[in-house]
Amino acid sequence: MKELTLTLNPRDKRSRINKEIYSNFSEHLGRCIYDGIYVGEDSDIPNIEGFRKDVVEAFRAIKLPVLRWPGGCFADEYYWRDGVGEKSTRTKVVNNWGHIVEDNSFGTHEFLRFCELVGCEPYISGNVGSGTVKELKDWVEYITFDGVSPMCELRRKNGRERPWKLKYLGIGNESWGCGGNMTPEYYCDQYKQYATFCREYSGNKLFKIACGPNAFDYNWTEVCMKRITPANMDGLSLHYYTVPTCNWDHKGSSTDFDTDEYYSTLRVTLQMETLITRHSEIMNRYDPEKKVGLIVDEWGCWYDVEPDTNPSFLYQLNTMRDAIVAAINLNIFNSHSDRVYMANIAQAVNVLQAVMLTEGARTVKTPTYHVFDLYTKHMDGTLIYSHVENENASDGVPAISQSASINENGDIIVTAANCSLENGYTLNIRGAENITSAECRILTGEVHSLNSFDSPENVTIKPLEAECSGGTVSVTLPACSVAEIVLKR
Ligand code: AHR
Repeated sequence: MKELTLTLNPRDKRSRINKEIYSNFSEHLGRCIYDGIYVGEDSDIPNIEGFRKDVVEAFRAIKLPVLRWPGGCFADEYYWRDGVGEKSTRTKVVNNWGHIVEDNSFGTHEFLRFCELVGCEPYISGNVGSGTVKELKDWVEYITFDGVSPMCELRRKNGRERPWKLKYLGIGNESWGCGGNMTPEYYCDQYKQYATFCREYSGNKLFKIACGPNAFDYNWTEVCMKRITPANMDGLSLHYYTVPTCNWDHKGSSTDFDTDEYYSTLRVTLQMETLITRHSEIMNRYDPEKKVGLIVDEWGCWYDVEPDTNPSFLYQLNTMRDAIVAAINLNIFNSHSDRVYMANIAQAVNVLQAVMLTEGARTVKTPTYHVFDLYTKHMDGTLIYSHVENENASDGVPAISQSASINENGDIIVTAANCSLENGYTLNIRGAENITSAECRILTGEVHSLNSFDSPENVTIKPLEAECSGGTVSVTLPACSVAEIVLKR
C-alpha cells in the first residue's frame, strides 16, 4: 500500500466554514418540485401536508441549511402571484423547461412550509428578466411585512397571519444568459433599482445576492464590484458546472464512461479552484474586508440526460464519480471559506447531480447525498491548515483532495477523497496534538457503482478503521473513496 503524509496545524486557524456551503437548489424543472418534493396531500406516497416524507427526513438528516427556489432560468419567468391563494383557482402557465403545464400548486406558501419542515433557510431567487420592480417589491412585502398593506391583507386572506422571515434574496438569475441576456453594465443598473425597493420590514434582514458571473467571465465580476459596490450587496453569485467533455452538445453519459473520461471530469471540476481564486482576487480589490460573500449557487455535474427521458427534464444518474466530484468541490469551498459564503448544488431531487432520486413511492439517496452526510461536521467549524505530500492520480489530478476544520470542542475534522482509480493510500495524519481516538467513516465503491431503486443501499457509508500511535493517525483509503476522519482530544 502506498503511503502519503497529511500534515495538519490546528493552531493555524483560518476562516469560518459557514454551514451555508452545504446548501441545495430546487427549480421547477423536470421532476424536482413535482414528484421529487411535492406530491400533494391526496397522494398515496407518504407525505406531510403534500411534501414527501422521505425527502423531508433525508434533508433533515444532512442538516440542509438553505434551499434556493424557484430557479434557475424558471425564476426569471415566475410570477409569484400565480402561485398563491386557493389551489383550484391558481393560474396554469407554461413552464419553458419542456413547455409543460405548471399548475402552480407549489408556490410561496408551500416552499416556505417545506423549508420549515426541513429546518432550512429559504433562498428566493427574484424575477428580474421578465418581471417588474413592483412585483419583486410586493413579493418581499407579502412574505415579510407584519402590518397593514395590500400585500399583508392578501397573505392573511390566503391563510397566513404571521409573516415569515426571509434572509436570502437573489436579484435575478443568470442575467447574462437565460435571465435576460444583459450586459454587466445594464444588469448593475437593474440590480440597484430592484434592490432599492426590496425593503426590510418588521425586523426582517435581507441578504441581497447579485447575479454574478458565468464561470470564467471575470469582466462580469469586475463590473459588478465596481458599479454595484460592496455597500449595496451582500453576495455575488457564481455558476459553474462540470461538463466532462467540455462540449455542451455531447456532455457524456452519467453512467457509461471510461477511465479517461473519469479523469477529464475531475480536471474540469478542479477548475473551480482557479475560478474561485481569480474571482476572489477581483473581489478583494474592491472589498478587502470580504464583506461580500461569493455564492456558488449552481454547481455540479451536468451530463447527457438518461436515454428515453424528456431531454428538458435534465434527469441523470449518479455514481461514485459524482461522489468524488462533490468531495473535491466541497473541499475547495471549505478551503476558500474566507470568501465562499454559500454554495448550492444543482439540484435537490431528480435533476442534474441530485442528492436524491425518486420513482413513485421509491427514493434513493445518491452517492452525492452520502458525501454531504460525511461533510456535515465541518458546518460552522473553523478551517485549519492542512497539506498532503501528494502525487498525481492522472495528469493535473492530485490523488488526494482534502480539507480540515476544528470545532468548538477541539475535535478536528478531516475530509479526504482518494481520486485515484488505481491506487489505495495509507494516509498518515500528523500535526494534531493530544489525539486520543479517531472516529472515521468511508464511502467507496467501483467508480460506476450507484444506488438504484432495486438496490438503494449499494453505495453507503461504512465505518473506517484508524490506527493512532505516537501522535500519528493512519487510515487507509481505497481507490475511489471519500472519508470523514474525526480526531478526538
Ligand atoms: O440548473 C439548470 C439550469 O442551469 C438553471 O435553470 C440555470 O440557472 C442554469 O443555466
